[in-house]
Amino acid sequence: MIIRGRKIGDGMPLLCVSVSDVTSRAIRKRIMYLADRELDAVEWRADNFNLGREQEATEKILSMGRHFLRDKIFIYTYRTVNEGGNGIATGQDYERIVLMAASSNSCDFVDCEINGISEPGSFIRQIKNYGCRVIASCHDFDGTPDSDEIMAVLTRMKDAGADICKVAYTPKNSNDVHRLMETVQRFKVLNPGVPVIGISMGELGVESRICGEFFGSCLTFAAVEDSDKRSSGGSAPGQVNYTQMGEALQAIHRAACCGKKLYFIGFMGTGKTSVTKKLCRFTGCDWVDVDRNIEVSTGKNITDIFDEVGEEGFRKLETGELQKIADMPGRLVVSCGGGVVTREENVRIMRESGEIILLTATPETVFSRVSGSLSRPILNGHMNIDYIRELMSLREEAYERAATAVVRTDDMGVEQIARHIKKLYF
Ligand code: S3P
Repeated sequence: MIIRGRKIGDGMPLLCVSVSDVTSRAIRKRIMYLADRELDAVEWRADNFNLGREQEATEKILSMGRHFLRDKIFIYTYRTVNEGGNGIATGQDYERIVLMAASSNSCDFVDCEINGISEPGSFIRQIKNYGCRVIASCHDFDGTPDSDEIMAVLTRMKDAGADICKVAYTPKNSNDVHRLMETVQRFKVLNPGVPVIGISMGELGVESRICGEFFGSCLTFAAVEDSDKRSSGGSAPGQVNYTQMGEALQAIHRAACCGKKLYFIGFMGTGKTSVTKKLCRFTGCDWVDVDRNIEVSTGKNITDIFDEVGEEGFRKLETGELQKIADMPGRLVVSCGGGVVTREENVRIMRESGEIILLTATPETVFSRVSGSLSRPILNGHMNIDYIRELMSLREEAYERAATAVVRTDDMGVEQIARHIKKLYF
């Protein structure tokens, strides 16, 4: 899943900070402060808001938040007293409040306490009908259940249609922390496409907040100080300051990827070749281009190959070349052809040997970059924005599933993109 240009469920966990203030004014001030920080997501904890059960006041904050947070992910949460929050609503009143936020068209996700709703499946469907996504959640501030119970809760969330399944438990010892992490990891193996957030709270559980990349937790909550340098203290026990957390997540990501190949995928004209070349110049890493290797090994150019063996024949050559690259020793930066994700086999080869970075651009940007090109046989006779949009949307799901990270290239120059990627991987 890619939301606001951020991959959820693979690679580096997203960094999220919660807003738990009481008045509209304080909430606005904090959201404005967070809008300019290096964060992926902001969660509004509406159970602390003095007008948190009122529709008009809630909608106003949500639309203000959406406006200021621009391309950050915006999560609405009304945490009830039952699950460690301050929200007194229960039953139908709780469901009404969550639906009120989901229907606002302003937030990307609403949190939904799986134990607080009568029919999770149909309730989650209602939320999704508004075009909003769901983080199903379950908290325990007294202890950590056994593995079977954690697995059962996550499975119930997934079966009800949650987009992200979140469990947060309180450890009594480090075994509890490790059991939580190990169970989340097992759930991920059984359900690879389902994003999970697994948190062990309190001081003992800090490890689980930092190491999500290793056990498969896709988002971590951190604490922030505001513009007056007052600490917000975070929204739950054990949250680390967000700057420290950001540094830790990046350091772990770099370490986790240090031996891996970096495959660049994306539609034609998203900058795969120019970005990878620049990245190699900055890092000294070796560069391989799949199309170029196909041309060298066949002695023909891509257009002639398409003419002679068609797209299917070309795809076979592409898979063979990709496998050769995957088998090469050492770290490489690899630029792939735009259609590489159309074969599951290719995605498997790339996943098993490296990280897959998706570069994106709008159809308009792509058109402006490739309209003069004669070497894109796929676009021969269709060099227009509508066709590019159509082909892009046919491939969108495959790109999203394959990627372990995403970089939007519309508003960044090649050098800036390469520097950004260098910071995350080298
Ligand atoms: C293709 C994209 C091209 C090349 C071939 C097929 C595609 O690579 O592999 O023409 O199907 O999108 P670029 O994305 O580097 O242009």
